[in-house]
Amino acid sequence: MQEIIQQLEQTRRAAELGGGQGRIDAQHGKGKLTARERIEVLLDEGSFEEWDMFVEHRCTDFGMADKKIPSDGVVTGYGTVNGRVVFVYSQDFTVFGGSLSEAHAEKICKIMDQAIKVGAPVIGLNDSGGARIQEGVASLGGYAEVFQRNVLASGVIPQISVIMGPCAGGAVYSPAMTDFIFMVRDSSYMFVTGPDVVKTVTHEEVTAEELGGAGTHSTLSGVCDRAWDNDVETLLMVRRFINYLPANNRERPPFRPTPDRADRMDMSLDTLIPDNPNQPYDMKELIYKVVDDCDFCELQPNHAQNIIVGFARMDGQPIGVVANQPSVLAGCLDIKSSIKAGRFVRFCDAFNIPIVTFVDVPGFMPGTAQEYGGIIKHGAKLLYAYAEATVPKVTVITRKAYGGAYDVMSSKHLRGDVNFAWPTAEIAVMGPKGAVEIIFREDMKDPQRIAERTEEYRRKFANPFIAGARGYIDDVITPHSTRKRVCRSLAMLHDKELTNPWRKHGNLPL
Ligand code: HXC
Repeated sequence: MQEIIQQLEQTRRAAELGGGQGRIDAQHGKGKLTARERIEVLLDEGSFEEWDMFVEHRCTDFGMADKKIPSDGVVTGYGTVNGRVVFVYSQDFTVFGGSLSEAHAEKICKIMDQAIKVGAPVIGLNDSGGARIQEGVASLGGYAEVFQRNVLASGVIPQISVIMGPCAGGAVYSPAMTDFIFMVRDSSYMFVTGPDVVKTVTHEEVTAEELGGAGTHSTLSGVCDRAWDNDVETLLMVRRFINYLPANNRERPPFRPTPDRADRMDMSLDTLIPDNPNQPYDMKELIYKVVDDCDFCELQPNHAQNIIVGFARMDGQPIGVVANQPSVLAGCLDIKSSIKAGRFVRFCDAFNIPIVTFVDVPGFMPGTAQEYGGIIKHGAKLLYAYAEATVPKVTVITRKAYGGAYDVMSSKHLRGDVNFAWPTAEIAVMGPKGAVEIIFREDMKDPQRIAERTEEYRRKFANPFIAGARGYIDDVITPHSTRKRVCRSLAMLHDKELTNPWRKHGNLPL
């Protein structure tokens, strides 16, 4: 018995040493933690239950038969984050560069299968050179097995990818199919083809960081939802982030009591909207002032900044916030913002998270770039997402709600449950100036006449009362009472039941 225990201890030590002290030192030298250290930071102390430490690869080519390291480059298992169960895999770059072998993939699949069965999130810590080159197609098959599970788990359990090193080639598609991608600045990158291939094919010279670093993906591409400065900060933020999410699609997100009173008024909101309707203001001020404890977890803060998305709580209940940002591109909807918000709305709907929408939108962005880029289809994604969503939907129109964008932004007609407007709301087909230029074209040469017509249009239509008269707006509320009114609405909607007609799946305009 003693001998067997010793043997067990030896294997454990070998697994814990991964690719050896030299490679661990090299990992630390790059400012990165090892796979196991990362799990320690991510999970509650002492909660990690490791599976498959004894798994080894089965490759015999290229001298691999005598190069076996227990765990085979990925540490898998489950533990808790703030007392709630999560499954985790953490790729070990010190073992064959964290590359994915058939056995490595099987370990990931095993915890994914179990997570789906018990209804708990999967967090993947990615740090890998991609397919294990010595294994060839067996490795590719392993990737596809993981992809298949990503899809089956989608909308069933939350899936979070944290990119903490290289993630290249087809390997990027597993994170891409998860719900959120977080990255570590300066030490992680994601791309389908690396700088060398790019140079050969397109003659562009680009560094790995420029091509797929956290900066690129959190600003230009929108692939990354948030990036932080180092491993520890990133993992601690993931711990915080998971508190907003339910464990699976059958549960509600976790309630967190707050000392912040639901009926708290904020008089400063009464002066948030400038007198000049064309002057911007910061919608984030409104968000921070109405949510619990001024605590808003924004996603993609540097991508498509004309729309704001993120999680917060109201009276203790997690909500998804979607808001136009009038201080960027006047808050108009374009391709990027529609995709950003559409995906977020669908996540909230899949996981029972009520959506609160703040609207100040002059319309869709005009121009050839947008039309050629397919704004018709991409804008439809956000429309589709809101129309499909059955979770509680509360909408507050602060200022402009013009044209198709009025319809899209969680309007009454898309089954908005409670739709409020501030007295400053302007709900119409378009702004007064544009409207007058079209319907009074014959007056265009007379500036005096145009000014009169514009004022007339503004008086008649640029207000919330026409929509209110039709019941499209449930109430016109004072800005300072917004928190109270939204909290009350969410409380009323707590047990809302609504289902869509049966179908295999809808056909979202991809
Ligand atoms: C086997 C690998 C490996 C791989 C790295 N290693 N990538 N072993 N398969 N894919 C090993 C190296 O041999 C080395 O072993 C150790 O990991 C560390 O690698 P280094 O190159 O020394 O590290 P670094 O300089 O930091 O460079 C990291 C890297 C580079 C940029 C990731 O290793 C690299 O370019 N690797 C190959 C990437 C790649 O082409 N992967 C296949 C992509 S195709 P020793 O023993 O020296 O420590 C793909 C298809 C997926 O993934 C398709 C899914 C559908």
